[in-house]
Amino acid sequence: MNYIGSKFSLLAEIRAMLARHHVTGGSFCDLFSGTATVAQMARLDGFTVVANDLQAYSHAMQAAFLETQGYPAFERLRREVPAIDASEPGTRPAFGLAPAPGADAGALTRVLRYLESLPPREGPFFHTYCEGGSAGRSYFARHVGAHCETVRDQLDAWKPWLTEGEHAVLLASLIETMDLLANTASVYGAYLKQVKKSAKQPFVLRVPRLSSAGAGHRAFMLDGAALVRQLAAEGVHDVLYLDPPYNHRQYHANYHVLETIARWDLASFVPKGKTGLRPGADQRSRFCSRREVAKAFAEVLEAARFRHILVSYNNEGLLAEDDLRALLTAKAAGGALEFHTLPYKRFRADADGEGRQYKGDEVREFLFYVGPKAGA
Ligand SMILES: C[S@@+](CC[C@H](N)C(=O)[O-])C[C@H]1O[C@@H](n2cnc3c(N)ncnc32)[C@H](O)[C@@H]1O
Repeated sequence: MNYIGSKFSLLAEIRAMLARHHVTGGSFCDLFSGTATVAQMARLDGFTVVANDLQAYSHAMQAAFLETQGYPAFERLRREVPAIDASEPGTRPAFGLAPAPGADAGALTRVLRYLESLPPREGPFFHTYCEGGSAGRSYFARHVGAHCETVRDQLDAWKPWLTEGEHAVLLASLIETMDLLANTASVYGAYLKQVKKSAKQPFVLRVPRLSSAGAGHRAFMLDGAALVRQLAAEGVHDVLYLDPPYNHRQYHANYHVLETIARWDLASFVPKGKTGLRPGADQRSRFCSRREVAKAFAEVLEAARFRHILVSYNNEGLLAEDDLRALLTAKAAGGALEFHTLPYKRFRADADGEGRQYKGDEVREFLFYVGPKAGA
């Protein structure tokens, strides 16, 4: 996914910081998981992972990558829909960090091929968000929107024949595919009027690269502070990775179309305004408010019972660097601290232009560490 704040390109830095502090295993909580990239890395590196985010599309990614044990077999579904086994598995584009899918992904790729072969339908999603739809919004090309309508309806209809992990894998595949084919400059705050070339490509469902490392991984969709309190009640855990939003851009507004694909709840709200926004009051993040961010950070840190805490943030965040350092120094209470700064290319949602002038290309990205006292 093309995601604001994705840490895909910082995974090596996160790994290096863990190695510098001799953190090699145990439990790992990715509290603001987004694309679930860090959670996937932690799983592949041998941790038992808990991932969490407020957004349903993120939860689908986490569940697909964490709550599965290798490639699902879709046994019940294939018994109920024998035509699935008649379709050729073939190769297809993949996403995720695990090694490339091998022959064991055959059942999944057959299901994806079958889903693509279903007749596209111009229903409510199509009319609300797609080229040629009655609302006049063009987040997706006509054929992409109509395929999405059919596939997402089918996933709900198949629910009794799918395990939760199987459902999550198919949903994650659809979300990733739709994001790649979106007719936007990057986020879903606006769509392009003309359908761009990359959005016109054929509808081919991406296959997630799934891992079978470890067991007992969990995915949540809670407010971060609430989950940290819940985990504290279980006892002391090992690693907490915090990567909250750093500016005022709320994720529920910037990714509202993906959220609707994940929840498939168009019947329950009236899309608002030119962009077709969904209501998101319950998904507003306090980390996106200058007035509330310090309190939001403090609440998570106070409740956290973890041996090691890693925090990603940057020099343009709503919380000033000094204030963040002060919060972490207080949490460390004389234990280990490392304030690591690295240059990182700015996420550009739009090009510079009238009304938007970025200061430059370099943002200083922080990776901070709080750990136990030496010998503790
Ligand atoms: C910077 S992004 C995380 C990116 C992620 N590390 C990745 O590599 O994709 C911040 C995430 O925090 C989530 N979020 C914001 N406020 C939250 C809260 N209070 N509790 C849980 N998740 C929250 C957003 O939905 C968003 O996905």
